[in-house]
Amino acid sequence: MRKILIIGLSNIDIITSCTTYPQEDTDEKCEGIYIQRGGNASNNCTILSQLGKSCEFLGSLGQDWIGTLIAKDLDQLHIDSKNCPIYDQTYNSPSSVVIINTTDGTRTIRHYNPGFPELTCAYFENKINKKTIANYSWIHFEGRRKNLDEIFKMICYTLINQKPSSTIFPFTPFISVEVEKPSDLTWPHFSTLNINLYFIGKDYAKYRGFSNMNETVTILYHEMLNKSLKTMLDHDPIIISTWGELGSCALLSTSQSDTLSSHYSIIECPPIHALSVNKPLDTLGAGDAFIAAFIHSLHSFEELQQNDDPKWLKFIQDANNLSERIAYDSKTTVQINHNTKVKIVKICLDYANYIAGLKCAHIGLTNLNIPISFKQSF
Ligand code: FRU
Repeated sequence: MRKILIIGLSNIDIITSCTTYPQEDTDEKCEGIYIQRGGNASNNCTILSQLGKSCEFLGSLGQDWIGTLIAKDLDQLHIDSKNCPIYDQTYNSPSSVVIINTTDGTRTIRHYNPGFPELTCAYFENKINKKTIANYSWIHFEGRRKNLDEIFKMICYTLINQKPSSTIFPFTPFISVEVEKPSDLTWPHFSTLNINLYFIGKDYAKYRGFSNMNETVTILYHEMLNKSLKTMLDHDPIIISTWGELGSCALLSTSQSDTLSSHYSIIECPPIHALSVNKPLDTLGAGDAFIAAFIHSLHSFEELQQNDDPKWLKFIQDANNLSERIAYDSKTTVQINHNTKVKIVKICLDYANYIAGLKCAHIGLTNLNIPISFKQSF
């Protein structure tokens, strides 16, 4: 089975949970202090591994006490980190101090990274070469501001080595990128590349002055179109905006070669709060959980399709309104039209919202107690 590769940061989070956000210059008791592995990419892996997906983490690791702790924890969750560059004890691994307010679940993060070396494209090309890249069906990049030029080059290298696919992935490995932190450079860099899927975080959307998720995906889509100097985006990207407690939304672009134009559909999903718990306790890593669950869900559709699984055939038959005979005879050659893709992405968004909601009602990112029926995404 081909793997999912997640590229980005792993750090530790030193967490203090309090019932109210502390006042400056006071001395009070808190509810708990604990340490957990963090960093967006590393958090994506934590969730993917609990959803039963075989995933690999690629990012710089240290050998100081923080690095040792991270490596041990990745191992414990069976997250493959064999290709990570390892730096000796003289380098300080990154860490964050986080205050979680358990009354409303907010998380306040102060990140510290005293110049820990970042992953380079030269290293990436050496480890994930033209041959081994075929072992991955999906490569996800955390769009880190600090390492933008190298990430840009790694995506270009992956794009050059992508192969066309006849599944719901137009190309393989499928490429996604996260644009989360406020920056003037991330989106202008990534929007010029034929990336298949963009995850736009609320912090970035707010920084750009967008007031909701629909506006976010629409404006960003038109920016891409204008910049391409073409009338259509022929790689049909998906743009997803997440907006915390308000849910998420996806824009699916579709290029039409007859009219040389691009159209799009927007799918909005309200949040689905986890089970009976309706109060968020801890939102640290909820966005990372969303991304991991979306990847899991879309990837599962693709795997079922690859395997001509009866579940997939039934789904495609219902979605395309085909008669049973046509669906079963023509198997994967059945065209997946835009409307079917819209249905698939809607299921994936609902699923990702559900898992992110489950995470918010739970302290930490491990032992999420995902109901067995939910480990499969449809
Ligand atoms: C949450 C998180 C934390 C980490 C911080 C880094 O999304 O990944 O685990 O400390 O963001 O910015």
